[in-house]
Amino acid sequence: MRWVAKAALQRGLGLMPQGERVNYLFQRHVARSLPGGEPVVRRKLARARQHLEAFGRPGEDAVFYEFGAGWDLAIPLSYAALGVRRQVLVDIRPSARVELVNEALTLLDGIQDDDLPPLGGPVSSLGELDERFGITYLAPRDARATGLESESIDFVTSTDVCEHIPEADLAQIFRECRRLLRPGGAVSCRIDLQDHYAYFDANLSRYHFLHFSDRAWGLVNSPLHFQNRLREPDYLRLVRESGLEVVSWTPSGPSAEGLAELEAMELAPRFRNGYTPEELGVTVLSFVAQRRASG
Ligand SMILES: C[S@@+](CC[C@H](N)C(=O)[O-])C[C@H]1O[C@@H](n2cnc3c(N)ncnc32)[C@H](O)[C@@H]1O
Repeated sequence: MRWVAKAALQRGLGLMPQGERVNYLFQRHVARSLPGGEPVVRRKLARARQHLEAFGRPGEDAVFYEFGAGWDLAIPLSYAALGVRRQVLVDIRPSARVELVNEALTLLDGIQDDDLPPLGGPVSSLGELDERFGITYLAPRDARATGLESESIDFVTSTDVCEHIPEADLAQIFRECRRLLRPGGAVSCRIDLQDHYAYFDANLSRYHFLHFSDRAWGLVNSPLHFQNRLREPDYLRLVRESGLEVVSWTPSGPSAEGLAELEAMELAPRFRNGYTPEELGVTVLSFVAQRRASG
């Protein structure tokens, strides 16, 4: 039941006015999960490379936009190292911390790859990211309504963010992405559809949260660690409804082991009908969707 303690703590923090700040201090000094260290930065570099590959290696003049930028900005810093010159980042919370950004900078510079030139020394403020790397960090700024100019962006990315956003908000975010994109521009998203408490509590199935009714899940779900529990077909519907056109759709899983876990579980009514086990069991979804070149 370790996950229950974690969920209760997250929920308590989520309801506090300074909850995000206290959560940061807790993660850094008590749980010691921040900074994530080299394995986390290497993983984020790999994600950045995947997004760039999905766009077919964009030209140097391309303008990138990322929603849900997070704490260490390791993905945008990876883009900068890989040649992206202009980026706009938004986050609904001002989560980025100079000390975590500098940790990510140091770790990226320590990775000896031929296509990864050094980014240079630490920054003294988040504002400096603009002049050094062409990164404009806007937070708090809601991805539902960014206030950015229409058709000003070539590529949108988001990594491990969509699963934390309520369905109605996500519909607005995808529509906003379409508005921001130049015709022919594209969005690349990576979404983790597994119960995130299973990362923390080894006794939990990755599908554990599908057992709870919406009402029961609503009692544990924290604003700070919100999980929408949407499944793969729900994302396909939302992307299509936004007017974006799917270019590639890459669900991973479920494994045979995952299907057996689902089979053994008592699913909440919402998940019992309307999905095949294969749809229900998708663990990670990556997709690219485009704003049509005309229209
Ligand atoms: C799990 S973090 C992902 C961080 C980052 N993408 C990474 O991989 O390191 C999710 C982020 O999405 C942000 N977020 C949630 N809803 C948002 C919204 N409506 N607009 C902008 N950011 C949002 C959260 O504040 C959080 O920083």
